[in-house]
Amino acid sequence: MSDLTGKTALVTGASRGIGRALAVGLARVGAARGVSGGAEARVEQVRGEVEALGRKAVVVVADVTDPAACARLGEEAVKAFGGLDILVNNAGGSSYMGPFTDLRFSGWEKTMRLNVDSIVHLSQVVGRHMVECGSGSVINVASVAGLTATPSLAAYGASKAAVISLTKTLALEWGPAGVRVNALCPGWTRTDLNKDLWDNEELAAMMVANQGLKRWADVEEMVGPTVFLASEASSYVTGQTLVVDGGQTAA
Ligand SMILES: NC(=O)c1ccc[n+]([C@@H]2O[C@H](COP(=O)([O-])OP(=O)(O)OC[C@H]3O[C@@H](n4cnc5c(N)ncnc54)[C@H](OP(=O)(O)O)[C@@H]3O)[C@@H](O)[C@H]2O)c1
Repeated sequence: MSDLTGKTALVTGASRGIGRALAVGLARVGAARGVSGGAEARVEQVRGEVEALGRKAVVVVADVTDPAACARLGEEAVKAFGGLDILVNNAGGSSYMGPFTDLRFSGWEKTMRLNVDSIVHLSQVVGRHMVECGSGSVINVASVAGLTATPSLAAYGASKAAVISLTKTLALEWGPAGVRVNALCPGWTRTDLNKDLWDNEELAAMMVANQGLKRWADVEEMVGPTVFLASEASSYVTGQTLVVDGGQTAA
């Protein structure tokens, strides 16, 4: 059921971290891949990994905060594969951690541009195509930060909550056309995004002290849930938020 042979997927932010693992992981179960990211050398390496699995890979270097670049990315991916079955809106992050009163509005806007506007622009292009074709699976990488209060990360939390809301709305708008839209909410996962936290052993342990599994996730642990959402295994699942957080939000 999770076989993606013959399917095509576009993963944004595939140069490293969770996006890289998802691009290679989807290729492992059969999908040809379009990858995007800012740093060309790193995405080229990911292209090599995908091709080594016998899949076709197309790299489009695009800044997802630029609406025109998103349009080009979506159109090039559709053209390169003659269609697109899976879109993983993964590129995102946060560059500010601190009290809300010190947050500059420009920082708020920057976070929204990266985590929300990028999904809006790319999903409009790809969504139109999927709706026309009558099938597709869109996976928006949100975060547990979009489900709970996020002291010191107000903009990031609000942006991810917006992603979860948009996911539900698009699921209803596109459902009649056979297009499913779901969100993936990772918990603490070791990547460059939060290296400052997991690099410090004491701090790293503290972050997961109240969680069920009491450890950080490896990026590979996001692959199975994503394959589930991308494939026929989840054919009756849409508008949902799949939380992959080692029990963090159960506490
Ligand atoms: N790590 C966690 O604990 C965690 C938890 C919950 C949710 N998430 C979410 O998971 C997603 C991936 O995070 P990560 O931890 O893998 O982060 P990461 O290691 O920092 O990787 C971020 C990826 O996004 C790309 N990117 C950033 N800004 C971009 C832009 N303007 N245009 C195009 N690509 C851009 C980066 O490309 P470059 O290499 O070119 O910079 C990189 O490939 C994000 O949406 C994040 O919010 C992460």
